[in-house]
Amino acid sequence: MAPRVLIADDQSDVLEALRLILKPEGYQMEMATSPAGVLAAIERREFDVVLIDLNYTRDTTSGREGLDLLTQIQSIDGTLPVVVMTAWGSVEVAVEAMRRGARDFIQKPWENSRVIAIVRNQIALSRALRTGQRLEAENKMLRSGLNDGPGASGDTPQMIADSPAMQPVLRLIRDVGPSDANILITGEPGTGKELVAQALHAVSGRSGKRLVTVNAGGLPEGIFESELFGHVRGAFTDAKQDRIGRFEMADGGSLFLDEIANITPSQQTRLLRVLQTGEMERVGSSRTIRVDARVLSATNADLHEEVSAGRFRADLLFRLNAIEIHLPPLRDRRDDIPILASHFVGSYAHRYRKKLSGFDSAALQSMMDHAWPGNIRELAHAVERAVLLAQGEQIAVADLGLRQGKKSELRLEDMSLEQVEDALIRKALARYGGNVSQAAKALGLSRSALYRRLDRHRPE
Ligand SMILES: Nc1ncnc2c1ncn2[C@@H]1O[C@H](COP(=O)(O)OP(=O)(O)OP(=O)(O)O)[C@@H](O)[C@H]1O
Ligand SMILES: [Mg+2]
Repeated sequence: MAPRVLIADDQSDVLEALRLILKPEGYQMEMATSPAGVLAAIERREFDVVLIDLNYTRDTTSGREGLDLLTQIQSIDGTLPVVVMTAWGSVEVAVEAMRRGARDFIQKPWENSRVIAIVRNQIALSRALRTGQRLEAENKMLRSGLNDGPGASGDTPQMIADSPAMQPVLRLIRDVGPSDANILITGEPGTGKELVAQALHAVSGRSGKRLVTVNAGGLPEGIFESELFGHVRGAFTDAKQDRIGRFEMADGGSLFLDEIANITPSQQTRLLRVLQTGEMERVGSSRTIRVDARVLSATNADLHEEVSAGRFRADLLFRLNAIEIHLPPLRDRRDDIPILASHFVGSYAHRYRKKLSGFDSAALQSMMDHAWPGNIRELAHAVERAVLLAQGEQIAVADLGLRQGKKSELRLEDMSLEQVEDALIRKALARYGGNVSQAAKALGLSRSALYRRLDRHRPE
């Protein structure tokens, strides 16, 4: 039986082009021009793969329609492989779609051979899956050289730290981790504060019990108390039954209070009392209970400064930071960039089933030169995106998409003719949300002339 392929796009010329490209493969093809059409088609019968565009309404370029459609398809048929098509220059949406479970993506304008290969692959995988040979198919892919990198499985993510700047952190985790001391973890966003909290809990005698996390800074006034201390039935209108608070859940284990600088003065007061006495009452109850939870907390603010400014209680800070662990920003531990990056390549290549051996030297250099304001989280995201985009065995500079400061600061008079052309084309495409026809029109070019230029400027 010929494989069935469903293709959806609101532009009929796109549908026609794909039909022509895929025709020699002998598939049974069905076309849809709207999200509703796609859903109706897959309600009607089973397909082996579906290719969907991410934008359907003229003037929308966000990809939201396509992402919603992806979710709806998954709820009707969870095993149906979905490949998304995105406009040139809207890589972010493609990456988001992959995170949500799309199997692959095609960037317009596409290379025909790549479209054919993707569709073939997905059909082979989905057939294997449906005939119960899923494991075998996956193992085969794994044996064919997919990277089974560190951190690909297991609960607590591995902490990578080799640089001199991280040695004090490692030492503190080893030395004070096992104690019962309350620890305050500080550092810029994305530096690994939560990971350190997990490590501290893991090396402590409490590791057999739970590490309970609360985003303390995000709790509205009314919820804070009941969330942390619990409540009894009838304590307030919505309290239909007794509820145990986070402190009690962490009894014998550790409580991680994230974003601690953001709690209000009255929340600070309530928290202080529990830390001083180890005692609390559930909301609506007068019975005092004792809890034994070690408190780890984190913030990217400077709490000492908050204290000086009168916004944070000094006595609370004193209770929280028996020991303080400060995480240096990634720019101060550049030595760790290569090992962190290859660690992330390993786990994302595994997740997205890509065969990748690492970075080429220019890509590595661009990571070493980047400022990383978002720290390790930013690095992880950049690598995830690069893994998704990489076409070869190695990740190239262009896959990383790090802003190259110098290049964008080029002034017109310093640019070559080719650079000017490239910049104009990118601008036009961005303005028209990647719509090649409209961009071509604005530039006074035919569609095919624009495609030729895009090919010429495509990064190697
Ligand atoms: N040393 C490290 N080795 C490996 N992965 C790390 C390391 N540090 C951080 N990460 C990863 O980077 C991401 C961000 O880390 P984490 O959530 O712990 O940062 P954070 O400091 O709590 O950030 P925020 O202030 O934004 O909450 C996580 O996915 C984490 O697993
Ligand atoms: Mg955090």
